Amino acid sequence: MKGVMPSDIREKMKLLDRAEIIHLGGGLPDPAIFPYEPLSDASARLWADRARAQTALQYAPSEGYLPLREWIAGYMTRQGTACEADNVIITNGSQQGLDFLAKLLLSPGDKALVEIPSFIGALRAFDAYEPQYLGLPEDSADWNPTDLAGAKFCYVGPDFRNPTGTCMSRKDRLALLDLADDTGMAIIEDGCYEQLRYEGEDIASVAALAAERYGSIERSPVLHTGTFSKTIAPSLRVGWIAGPRDVIRRLVLIKQASDLATSALNQMLLLDVVRDHLDTSTRIARSVYRDRCRSMLDAMEEFMPHGVSWTRPQGGLYVWAELPDGIDGAALAARALLERSVSIISGSAFYPANATNIVPKPNTFRLSFSMIPAAAAREGIERLGGLIREG
Ligand SMILES: Cc1ncc(COP(=O)(O)O)c(C=O)c1O
Repeated sequence: MKGVMPSDIREKMKLLDRAEIIHLGGGLPDPAIFPYEPLSDASARLWADRARAQTALQYAPSEGYLPLREWIAGYMTRQGTACEADNVIITNGSQQGLDFLAKLLLSPGDKALVEIPSFIGALRAFDAYEPQYLGLPEDSADWNPTDLAGAKFCYVGPDFRNPTGTCMSRKDRLALLDLADDTGMAIIEDGCYEQLRYEGEDIASVAALAAERYGSIERSPVLHTGTFSKTIAPSLRVGWIAGPRDVIRRLVLIKQASDLATSALNQMLLLDVVRDHLDTSTRIARSVYRDRCRSMLDAMEEFMPHGVSWTRPQGGLYVWAELPDGIDGAALAARALLERSVSIISGSAFYPANATNIVPKPNTFRLSFSMIPAAAAREGIERLGGLIREG
């Protein structure tokens, strides 16, 4: 654990209760849109049925509650990755899935290929297994199998990456499969935001493209992590990994050793809710976040000074901004909090520590619109733009 750094974001959350602060950094799902009534009804149904209640309070199987695994296999199949319950393990959120995959695949000093910048939670999970990081070049024309040989896996978030909000094109997803073919590495596909598209056409997941290419999930190099945290509620801590059975069987051993099982109660409640309400919950989430994304981007257009550039996401929860050279994102984040009561996350947090081929961009920061209504976005971005302009 000597090499594992505290997460800038978890540290910032300690400041959440100062009322005057506008939190443009966070990225939590908005609790106003959690499905309270469906969860309460599912709960009442469960307690009224003694046999189900007994199952809910008992240890669950380590691989997860079978009807939920079957439901997820059906969902993955509808998304283009034909699979069965044996291809799915339930984890405590997809964060635990990332930890387990690193535990399975990495020994100290092994190479891990990651997108640059990358989700901070994944980097912190991988850090504990002491990999040597390699950055996946931004342009797939530079994905040279010789340079990237020896990596145990490549970690990607093709849909609306955290932190940049950008998407991987279909062409690059296919090129990633070519790279996996050439190097023998696994692909960890983080599907956290795949349901949160607000504009544009859906692109098949890397897992789906692999299933099509290889004819079966059993021959696929892709391990896909999914979650209900952004469409239902994060506190239930229910996520999953889908992949070839052999890999899932090994992950079940890791799960047994780690925490035995995910809460049966949470899995049963969640299944009851997703069966009837996932579509509605997802529709509500898309509609609320789409509006917030637009209002934050409008405010950026209005208040960001010349020389600042930013991404225009078609989904997810994040916008990534680049400052003119020489302005440090971490220094800006500290001043924004102190002088303007605006919180942002410095971009440097999203770069792995010991990567050989990565030059971090210190002049970057991440914003999130998930909890920010239009008026607050305008106010927060105006304050931030003013601070950048003052220099
Ligand atoms: C890209 C990404 N992956 C995984 C997670 C973990 O989510 P959970 O453990 O709640 O499924 C998050 C959380 O914000 C995330 O942004």
